[in-house]
Amino acid sequence: MATPALAFDFYASLEDETCDARIRAVKARLKGRTVILGHHYQREEVYRHADLTGDSLKLARLASQVDAEYIIFCGVHFMAEVADILSRPEQTVVLPDLAAGCSMADMANLAKVETAWRELAEVLEPDADITPITYINSAADLKAFCGRHGGIVCTSTNAKGILEWAFKQREKVLFFPDQHLGRWSGYKLGVPLDQMAVWDFNKPLGGLTPEQIRKAKILLWNGHCSVHQMFRPEHIDNFKKKYPDAQIICHPECAFEVCLKSDCVGSTEFIQKTVHAAKPGTRWLVGTELNLVNRLHEEVKHKGISVHFMSPMVCMCSTMFRIDSQHFAWTLENLAEGRVVNQITVPEPDARESKLALERMLSVKSA
Ligand code: 13P
Ligand code: SF4
Repeated sequence: MATPALAFDFYASLEDETCDARIRAVKARLKGRTVILGHHYQREEVYRHADLTGDSLKLARLASQVDAEYIIFCGVHFMAEVADILSRPEQTVVLPDLAAGCSMADMANLAKVETAWRELAEVLEPDADITPITYINSAADLKAFCGRHGGIVCTSTNAKGILEWAFKQREKVLFFPDQHLGRWSGYKLGVPLDQMAVWDFNKPLGGLTPEQIRKAKILLWNGHCSVHQMFRPEHIDNFKKKYPDAQIICHPECAFEVCLKSDCVGSTEFIQKTVHAAKPGTRWLVGTELNLVNRLHEEVKHKGISVHFMSPMVCMCSTMFRIDSQHFAWTLENLAEGRVVNQITVPEPDARESKLALERMLSVKSA
């Protein structure tokens, strides 16, 4: 007879140190059967147990390559969905806390995107004129929408190359859900700012006139990341007054003005690698999530590299933070007992159609 699942309530009251010891022990028991993937925003107590770490693109590639029976995804829901879509059918993907979502991903949903597509048909022929691009920070059914409509997925690493690909397919792009990544990537590609229009999904026809829609090369969904919108150009100006030689680095989910004032803009993996490779004695102001910035600070201080957080306020990704030692220990110990808790499974036809859009992304050479 199967033993009952180990209840989370028991783990909820355990101290972090106790969970840490239990995680080490259960990892050893599961050796060879699991791989733990950790996003750079994970809290330290979890990150230290990851077998492999990275940004969304690197983790997606890794999920398609690893052999383990179980992929434990320490990140957020859309990342675990991608891992399920790209891994083999016999592999199982687990997200330690199902409430670890992404507020930006939630700013677009299938009903709203389909409404936009229908409304655009009043002015254009969407399937002939527009390539839909979804940022990987989106639900699987939006990736499936892109798969069905000749569209593609992008990440913060490859968005410019993906835009280039998209313009080879059709004249225009509908980019969702992050307007900032879309605008910055379009700008880097040379698309004039006045040919990028924000599609306000709460207004009929996106709040645009037919003329504005016809003129736009890129229609930018009115979504954003609540963490990255906290970084402001004045934070950079104030820091530069104090430290004129400082280098500024930020994530492309930051506002356009912040990216413009930065020396380097790129994904979490890019930020991590750039600061690690910096010269001793350099000082960096970093505009991305706090757990990554704090870890970077610790990792490079012995080399004489100073790392500062861009905002005077604490801005953390509260959903990434939901993956804690307690949920992590709970899922691993259940696995060791042969019980899968918090499995992520993308149903058909979304799995097949979203895989199309993801595979298009992975096959774009310049991206
Ligand atoms: P990266 O792909 O750069 O890790 O970004 C994911 C993300 O959600 C940043 O907020
Ligand atoms: Fe989503 Fe922003 Fe968190 Fe990234 S930092 S996972 S975009 S809410």
